[in-house]
Amino acid sequence: MSPIPLQRPRRRRRSAAIRSLVREHELSPADLIQPLFVLHGRGVEREVRSMPGVFQFSVDEKLDREVDTVRSRGISAVLLFGLPASKDDAGSENYSEDGIVQRALRRLREQHPDLLLITDVCCCEYTSHGHCGVLRNGSVDNDATLEILGRVSVSHAQAGADIVAPSGMMDGMVAAIRSSLDSSGNSDTAILSYAVKYASGFYGPFREAADSAPAFGDRRQYQMDPANLREALLEAALDEAEGADLLMVKPALAYLDVVRAVRERTQLPLVAYNVSGEYSMVKAAARQGWIDECRVVLEALTGMRRAGADAIISYHAKDAALWLRGGDGE
Ligand code: PBG
Repeated sequence: MSPIPLQRPRRRRRSAAIRSLVREHELSPADLIQPLFVLHGRGVEREVRSMPGVFQFSVDEKLDREVDTVRSRGISAVLLFGLPASKDDAGSENYSEDGIVQRALRRLREQHPDLLLITDVCCCEYTSHGHCGVLRNGSVDNDATLEILGRVSVSHAQAGADIVAPSGMMDGMVAAIRSSLDSSGNSDTAILSYAVKYASGFYGPFREAADSAPAFGDRRQYQMDPANLREALLEAALDEAEGADLLMVKPALAYLDVVRAVRERTQLPLVAYNVSGEYSMVKAAARQGWIDECRVVLEALTGMRRAGADAIISYHAKDAALWLRGGDGE
């Protein structure tokens, strides 16, 4: 006869009350950041085909209504992406005072003084070639791009951004942006660096949402090789040394080991980006009735918190925030 087990972990799982008592990690709407796509025009609310439930909004009542919904669910941070009216080689709308993100910032800043406004700072949505910087001889010129990123960041700060989030994986981008912000009187504006960003197939649906697919080639000359972990630690350390206020790892699900490893080596807050492809896969399977969307979303987001992320950017943020109020999903 087998001995009676002295330790029976199941005793701690018998009821919702004891499970919540011994729960190790918490996911709350306060940890979530909602991405938002803004575009020119009036009265526009256009669903992204590859991301059901995600919309591009014009900067008017359409955007207001979405932000009201997001806030009413307990989320207090948004990440803005803009679709410009026109594109050119340098992506000049990116740093124009009348740019789409600048307009959205001014409106949101005025209507929601305590909403945390984060902006993605990159060139790919604005350049005619779709790469994350200016080109020279067919590849992205790192140092010429830094100058543009500085200008974009200052114009976002002046329009009301609390945090700028450079995502182009240019070397020295954090230092360049910090110095531009400081020398223009914007030393209170923080930098959330996409420090560890892999060249990932999981960004597929985003390129439709933000109309930012590269016209030729791919992003492997600046985004990281998915096979590398030590390099992630190096990138994170460099951005911390350059003055980043928060660090990010992106994507999230296939890189939770990277989240954990970066978490153990920095005291800075760490953000995980639950990217577009992760969203669309869940949506597609849920629409087929193959998985329970609420359950798998909360499970995945909790996994990111358990891996060490303090905050999570997710297209599911506003749904997750609603579901979190409905208990543990059982
Ligand atoms: C801009 C940027 C991208 C994403 C965030 N900022 C696209 C890319 O790098 O190709 C991806 C976000 C997502 O897939 O949800 N550089």
